[in-house]
Amino acid sequence: MTFWAARGSSLRPMTTPSLDELVSLRLFEPEARKLLPDVVWAYVAGGAADEITLAHNDQAWSQIQLSARVLRDVSEIDTRLELLGTRLPHPVMLAPTARHRAYHPDGELATIAGARQAQALYVQSSLGTTPLDQVAQAATDQPWWFQLYIQRDRGFTAELVAAAVEAGARALVLTVDTPTLGARDRDQRDSLGLKAGQGYPILEGVELHVEDLPAHRRIYNPLLAPDITWDDFAWLVETAGVPVVPKGIQRADDARTAAAAGAAAIAVSNHGARNLDTVPATARLLPHIVEAVPDLPVIVDGGIRRGTDVAKALSMGASAIMIGRPYIWGLSTHGAAGVQRVVEILHTELRMAMALLGVRNLAELTRDLLWDYAGSGS
Ligand SMILES: Cc1cc2nc3c(=O)[nH]c(=O)nc-3n(C[C@H](O)[C@H](O)[C@H](O)COP(=O)(O)O)c2cc1C
Repeated sequence: MTFWAARGSSLRPMTTPSLDELVSLRLFEPEARKLLPDVVWAYVAGGAADEITLAHNDQAWSQIQLSARVLRDVSEIDTRLELLGTRLPHPVMLAPTARHRAYHPDGELATIAGARQAQALYVQSSLGTTPLDQVAQAATDQPWWFQLYIQRDRGFTAELVAAAVEAGARALVLTVDTPTLGARDRDQRDSLGLKAGQGYPILEGVELHVEDLPAHRRIYNPLLAPDITWDDFAWLVETAGVPVVPKGIQRADDARTAAAAGAAAIAVSNHGARNLDTVPATARLLPHIVEAVPDLPVIVDGGIRRGTDVAKALSMGASAIMIGRPYIWGLSTHGAAGVQRVVEILHTELRMAMALLGVRNLAELTRDLLWDYAGSGS
């Protein structure tokens, strides 16, 4: 496939490999990098500060070893699950990510189509570049959730929640790890400006609070409420009318507080290492959270790039996983078909890993399949 990509000041033809050639998630990354303008790439790829956690998120999954069990009949592999009342054929979800029209002209509409084709549960970001009614229309035949950034204006927030539920979101994912953004150096240097007219249609009309300080001394973000607390969480659980999932839980005590406040599930996340640098990798956080809330489904994201990573997450007790950057790479290179392919590769790799681990369904993915854990390998 040939695209004309803007790089620097000149336009030059770039050849992107066909989907058949892109056989693993990581192969999509350099192709997306070639196609996206530098500022957009900095926004997608970057993490906070020195990107210590960004590297750890990736490495931590690869450092966990699997313990393969042999001679079991693995001629049928079943990856189905039920999550908050929705039946899914596999546990690969699309994490909420902002600004899809910066990656592909069809933006969220392409992502939604790709998610539908791959039967992946899609979480729509508050910072989407497509209005909610269009999201709803595009996603009528598939389940989707809505990710909420509570706004300083709680009245606006309440209306947004009602609109998302009315539009068909089956659950709300409240991002709890972002009272403001982290020190995203790459972003600050390049400052991604959305193209004129693109904006954030889902948050249209909200009053922006810009700190009256020079840019290098500001810490707050105009679209994020720094004063959100567990009271807001409790309010949401009470009023939303759909299950509420806090996203960005990193501590056992916070997981327990969320459970007591009515969380329907917990999303373990460090925001793709984009907020607080030097927090642990999510692969390391996950077992602590699973142990803290044994009765709740746990979803994890951060650095998941292989089916073996998914198998490890589920063996630690996660019910499902989310990917962020990988599907943005697929969206950037091939639109809906790229999103679909990324999910399908991960699902296929998961099934292969399950067969090689000697397990036939997700319930059989248990901790004893992880070499590092007590009691494993025996
Ligand atoms: C470009 C980009 C934009 C993101 N936007 C949001 C967002 O709007 N809301 C949110 O809760 N998380 C956002 N995230 C975090 C993702 O939901 C997810 O936690 C993270 O991407 C998972 O890590 P991974 O990219 O290594 O798979 C964003 C991540 C990226 C890479």
